[in-house]
Amino acid sequence: MVAAVVLVTSSALVSACGDGALDPKGEEASTVAGLWWVLFAVGTVVFVGVLAVLTVAVRRGERSGGEPAPDDDSGDRFVTWGGIAMPSVVLLVVVVAGVWVGRDLRQSDESQALRVEVTAHQYWWDVEYPDDDVRTANELHIPVGEPVDLVVRSDDVIHSLWVPKLAGKIDLVPGHTNELRVEATEAGDLSGYCAEFCGLQHTNMRLAVTAHEPDAFDEWLAERSQPAPEPSSDRATEGQRVFIDQGCARCHRVAGTDAEGDIGPDLTHLASRPTLAAGVVDNTRGALGGWVLDPQQTKPGSLMPPTRLEAEELHALLDYLETLE
Ligand code: CUA
Repeated sequence: MVAAVVLVTSSALVSACGDGALDPKGEEASTVAGLWWVLFAVGTVVFVGVLAVLTVAVRRGERSGGEPAPDDDSGDRFVTWGGIAMPSVVLLVVVVAGVWVGRDLRQSDESQALRVEVTAHQYWWDVEYPDDDVRTANELHIPVGEPVDLVVRSDDVIHSLWVPKLAGKIDLVPGHTNELRVEATEAGDLSGYCAEFCGLQHTNMRLAVTAHEPDAFDEWLAERSQPAPEPSSDRATEGQRVFIDQGCARCHRVAGTDAEGDIGPDLTHLASRPTLAAGVVDNTRGALGGWVLDPQQTKPGSLMPPTRLEAEELHALLDYLETLE
């Protein structure tokens, strides 16, 4: 009965919080989930055991009217075994299991892995595939069934990258490089978060993770390694001029153009991203216009400054940005 209550309550809690760390779609997340279930089982056994002993004690107390039995040293033995020996064994098992899993996760074998560099900024993710000259933001694409080494850094304060269904957390620390090996086990979309408070928009640092079948991943990579297309209309050409002249290009890069800023997200394939501002709003023309004019309305505390534009300039700029597929 008690076990049933514990199980139901825990399952409800588990399904209510997090983004499915117990529904792993990655090798590392499976290992962590396995450890979680071991801890859960041990915790349940201990909890049920303690309640059983408590029930027996209360019943005995009621029968004897609260008087301890004379010359009964069973209490001392119980404290020695139940209070010292058993907890020591349980804790030892739990510690060994935890260390074992931790070592397993950190073991970097010599196998070749795809290398992806992820740099955290307040409040977005810069994602680079250095071997393929691909750079993007707030989205991570990986192949299924192949190991990927995420090489992570921070540009400002401490952040933490967590894709619950893929792997455990990894801190991104200024001046230091960390590595996390991940391997997706099935294709699909996963959600990534910043798991370390890093400022006003800490909760709005989403990383959209997509695991592709290997062929689809190669296609994606090939597509993204292309520079931006030349603007195809007069207004888009005018928009490109606005982009360069009005300061956008000082912070943002558009591969294949004179825009080579690297303070803000790379915009070479901006139009293909489903969201803006690290998952805050859908990538629509209206949201993009609002974001360019006054980012603080969309994401208060964002480090992107407002841009003053005439209506004509804004529409030209949006036309241009929409060509960046
Ligand atoms: Cu970045 Cu919290």
